[in-house]
Amino acid sequence: MSEPRVHHPLLPARWPTAEEAAQGRWFTPVRLGARVVAATRTWVPAMVPWRASDDGAVTDDVLDWYRRFAAGRPGVLVVEATGIRDVPSGPLLRVGHDRFVPGLARLAAAVREASGGATRCFVQVIDFLSIRRRPAPEAYFGRFLPVTDDLRARAARALARDDLRTAPEADVRARLLAATRAEVEAVLDARELEALDRGARERVTDVHLPHVRDLPRTLPGRFADAAARVRDAGFDGVELHFAHAYTMASFLSRLNTRTDGYGTTFEGRLRLPLEVIAAVRARVGDFAVGLRFLGDEAIDGGTRVDEAARFGAAFARAGVDFLSVSKGGKFEDARAPRVGEAAYPYTGPSGHECMPTVRGDARGPFGRNVPLAAAVRAAVRAAGHATPVVAAGGIATFEQAEAVLAAGHADVVASARQTLADPDWFEKVRTGRGAAVRRCEFTNYCEGLDQRHLQVTCKLWDKAFTPGDPTVRTSPDGRRRLVAPPDPGG
Ligand SMILES: Cc1cc2nc3c(=O)[nH]c(=O)nc-3n(C[C@H](O)[C@H](O)[C@H](O)COP(=O)(O)O)c2cc1C
Ligand code: SF4
Repeated sequence: MSEPRVHHPLLPARWPTAEEAAQGRWFTPVRLGARVVAATRTWVPAMVPWRASDDGAVTDDVLDWYRRFAAGRPGVLVVEATGIRDVPSGPLLRVGHDRFVPGLARLAAAVREASGGATRCFVQVIDFLSIRRRPAPEAYFGRFLPVTDDLRARAARALARDDLRTAPEADVRARLLAATRAEVEAVLDARELEALDRGARERVTDVHLPHVRDLPRTLPGRFADAAARVRDAGFDGVELHFAHAYTMASFLSRLNTRTDGYGTTFEGRLRLPLEVIAAVRARVGDFAVGLRFLGDEAIDGGTRVDEAARFGAAFARAGVDFLSVSKGGKFEDARAPRVGEAAYPYTGPSGHECMPTVRGDARGPFGRNVPLAAAVRAAVRAAGHATPVVAAGGIATFEQAEAVLAAGHADVVASARQTLADPDWFEKVRTGRGAAVRRCEFTNYCEGLDQRHLQVTCKLWDKAFTPGDPTVRTSPDGRRRLVAPPDPGG
């Protein structure tokens, strides 16, 4: 029987005075590699806001978005997942070619200026495999489904139509389009059904595809090039995205059954990630290089915390400068998208684990993923490494952050949605103005926008401006402001 759904109230918050905040741990410095010291242990993890140009370049809206976070002076601000390939990927930032460097340099400079030099800025770099939108059945059966001899044989058998083995391709397609759901399920194999119901999705195990087979050969150089561009653009560091639904997390996954030495066993799954780290380090020297990975994939048959802790120790041994621990966010259990939309890895149970809301199981969203960071940190320390570990997930009060740090569960405490709701909240807490914090409600309006690839905003901002005000940049419908309102007490 499934657990009853619970609606959790926000945690009560007793905000510190400025003196209490100064005595705490959260606002103390932390070293992140040979060259970087963050002034505080406050951290804004990567959040894609859908503001890049269609060809992946930094826009004025991107600059405004990050300037607004930087004005709140977090210790570290991580720029959204930024693609390392030079391929069209919609309004997601890209760093797959040198032509992206000048725009990214403007972004690094904007963050430095808006934070008065207080914030260290990293870029999260990502590789992802192709995922297609869910097709209309007419398009799928009419064009996309390959009509192979094997498909013909399956159709002939399941539909008792021997003529389909040799019939013109158009007839096979027409018959399948007219088939009942039960007939479709009897004819198509699991991947074909997935392509029909969810949109085709490549996996790292698709080694029959040359570009997938060759990932171990191509990715180390791609990540190294991307990291060098991030350095050349003037950022303080790079975060390798080894988490959630994307290529590197899929190599680490227990579901990675590659038999070419890059899968199946613990060492095999770790091999490409370690080769990527080595290539990046060789290229950028002592530039800060950290990574984000999953403390738990939170899917059936996926990697759990025991292995993740061992991964963490191996990454630390390989010399990364920080480890940021996340959870879930996988395609495997994502909801089927509507026709014309792509699957979104934060819609299923593992998505809830990644961005937990107040509507869920008895554990609630607050600090939900801290035990994963704690397990990773314990394994890293046991292996003799001092690598800082970053925890995230439903952390939205000073007391929570202090408790995590005091218990030694993590070295840095990150807040994504709370900082989206109020980018000034770290400064408000630090200066004894905690009562003025606009508190995230953890109901994921922002995530719903991300899911539809719409410009991400917070529902709590909307009330604070008059539609049509020419001083406020808004979404195309004029209803949503694109950055948080200014802090009247700031
Ligand atoms: C709109 C949105 C976009 C996100 N984009 C990314 C991303 O690009 N990379 C990433 O690692 N995590 C991403 N996340 C996950 C957050 O970094 C964070 O791990 C998660 O929201 C849980 O932290 P929180 O409870 O403090 O919000 C995103 C979250 C949101 C709400
Ligand atoms: S939209 Fe909701 S969940 Fe997202 S930051 Fe705002 S209050 Fe928090």
